Amino acid sequence: MNSSNHVHIVEVGPRDGLQNEKTLLPAAVKIELIDRLSATGLKTIEATSFVSPKWVPQLADAAEVFSAIRKVEGVNYPVLVPNEQGYLRAREVNVREVAIFTAASETFSRKNTNASIDESMARFVPVIEHAQADDVTVRGYISTVLGCPYEGDVPVSEVVRVAVRLYQLGCREISLGDTIGVGTPAKARAMLRAVAQEVPMEALAVHFHDTYGQALANILACLEEGVRVVDSAVSGTGGCPYAKGATGNVASEDVIYMLHGMGMTTGVDLDQLIATGAWLAGQLGKETASRVTRARTAS
Ligand code: HMG
Ligand code: MG
Repeated sequence: MNSSNHVHIVEVGPRDGLQNEKTLLPAAVKIELIDRLSATGLKTIEATSFVSPKWVPQLADAAEVFSAIRKVEGVNYPVLVPNEQGYLRAREVNVREVAIFTAASETFSRKNTNASIDESMARFVPVIEHAQADDVTVRGYISTVLGCPYEGDVPVSEVVRVAVRLYQLGCREISLGDTIGVGTPAKARAMLRAVAQEVPMEALAVHFHDTYGQALANILACLEEGVRVVDSAVSGTGGCPYAKGATGNVASEDVIYMLHGMGMTTGVDLDQLIATGAWLAGQLGKETASRVTRARTAS
């Protein structure tokens, strides 16, 4: 059991959040968002995504955004890349960390990347070779770890199989994604436990969407299991455009409120994060999904 009190938050709002928002934000607003997040004490901020702009038009300005953000020392700014083409685009703007992504269910993999799980792994080989040569760190995501929008239940053995492959390929961290937010705590715990038997817990992260209001409970179960890296998105924005019904990521404000309330540390200034989330909601013209921010604003 991991007794560390510190949780590393991977802020995915500028990528996983904005990729699924109807409102297309100008690059200048995205840059301001990331710069504001950099000032909150977050140590990892997933900045954008070098996927096909035809598939995700919301992030077509990836190079412009990444080039313009203030790179604060000690803060990582990973970006999502689906293939070698994405990696080469990202390398042009000097990224230091990339995230590759696949799934635990075949149908979702095809809908999201036009490739089977095996084909997506084959695409990662040149990405990882380049990254190793360039001294760029690689993170891996597995989607649909607790359910698939097309196939329903996903066997835990599939999650384990894909996690082991990503780890062996050279991912230094693997994020386990409940893409459509259908998981519940006992299932989340069992899934994490099974993966952690094959991949060290220190190399695992959890990534919950709050579609069914289960995200905080799932995170708590996984913390009890020993995970210490949690993905979340400021203001609870986003979801995956290729997973019907997938609503927002769990809000970073709510995760951090819970962690601090439990006596755990994150290094993040919650008040500053709340202000940033409220500002982002204003830019998107919608109410924030963070319950903490709503409660603070109402009182
Ligand atoms: P494809 O159509 O099979 O690709 O898409 P292709 O290789 O045949 O290329 C088709 C066109 O796209 C070509 O252009 C390529 O140049 C271009 P054309 O000749 O037609 O003008 N292209 C690119 N352009 C820019 N950057 C690139 C790139 N690659 C090809 N990197 C592909 C395959 C993987 C590209 C596509 O399916 C794709 O981009 N998918 C990404 C979908 C996506 O971003 N989904 C959301 C992220 S995953 C997620 O949110 C889940 C996560 O949060 C965890 C969780 O919650 O579960 C991570
Ligand atoms: Mg996600």
